[in-house]
Amino acid sequence: MSTGIVYLNGEFLPAEKASVSVLDRGFVFGDGVYEVIPVYGGHLFRLDEHLRRLTDSLNSVKISNPLSGQQWQDVIMELIARNGGGDLSIYLQVTRGVAARDHAFPVGVSSTLFLMANPLIPLSDEVYKNGIAAVTAEDIRWKYCHIKSISLLGHVMLRQQALDQGAAEAILIRDGKVTEGAASNVFIVKNGELITPPKSDFLLPGITRDLTLELAASHNIPLKEVDFTPQELGDADEIWLTSSTKEILPVTALDRSPVGCGKPGILWQRMIALYQEYKQNVRKNILH
Ligand code: PDD
Repeated sequence: MSTGIVYLNGEFLPAEKASVSVLDRGFVFGDGVYEVIPVYGGHLFRLDEHLRRLTDSLNSVKISNPLSGQQWQDVIMELIARNGGGDLSIYLQVTRGVAARDHAFPVGVSSTLFLMANPLIPLSDEVYKNGIAAVTAEDIRWKYCHIKSISLLGHVMLRQQALDQGAAEAILIRDGKVTEGAASNVFIVKNGELITPPKSDFLLPGITRDLTLELAASHNIPLKEVDFTPQELGDADEIWLTSSTKEILPVTALDRSPVGCGKPGILWQRMIALYQEYKQNVRKNILH
């Protein structure tokens, strides 16, 4: 149960007082899009990039953007302040609004706008020491995975499939290629080179993915954006998963077999240090 102050359609109010109509198309059809934006020391991480992806998602599903960039920023900053600042993840969603149930888009209906703030938990000592386990799974999702849709049933099923096998995440395979994680992007390291699948309709263009590539490029770490096979995944020296809430996770076991030496790899250690340095600069308001 989320606590704290949330934002719903123009109002800030305690989570338990916020309610949405049962006819909301988000509830009935999963008809909406969302974003998750990290906040460090009260400062927003990569806001412009998150708002750009939100606009892309909204355009793709033909929901008009209810707020301007400045209005989004004002609402989010107010939400951060009302939740005491610090390290948070901001969840925001826009649905097509409330209407009698009919698949066709309703006419003259305003979208429903909801935001909440949740604590952002740093990587545990256990992850630094031992990494996490992942399993491979067939990518059963639809073909528009670049849209950050709130219809997440495929992702939910896949993530649970991983948990049921004692792993933390599922790495997805479509047509013989690795796409992404159930709630993360995927990287491999082979012979010192960092490799991640190129952006396409089959994966979410992750903001953490982009920052990881930027940090690699600016520190002369060899990288390429190309597809790879499950076989190459299994043969990788290192596997990483990236997301706004989990930063960069080292995968040390895949389908119950060790990845590389079975401990977080050398390049991951370098990259997570660069990532933490970047976060510190966000905290100091030097970077965003
Ligand atoms: N999910 N791919 C999928 C399917 C995701 O759900 C996510 C993140 C990512 C990583 O994107 P980013 O780096 O922009 O967070 C990739 C969020 C955190 C979630 O659903 O909670």
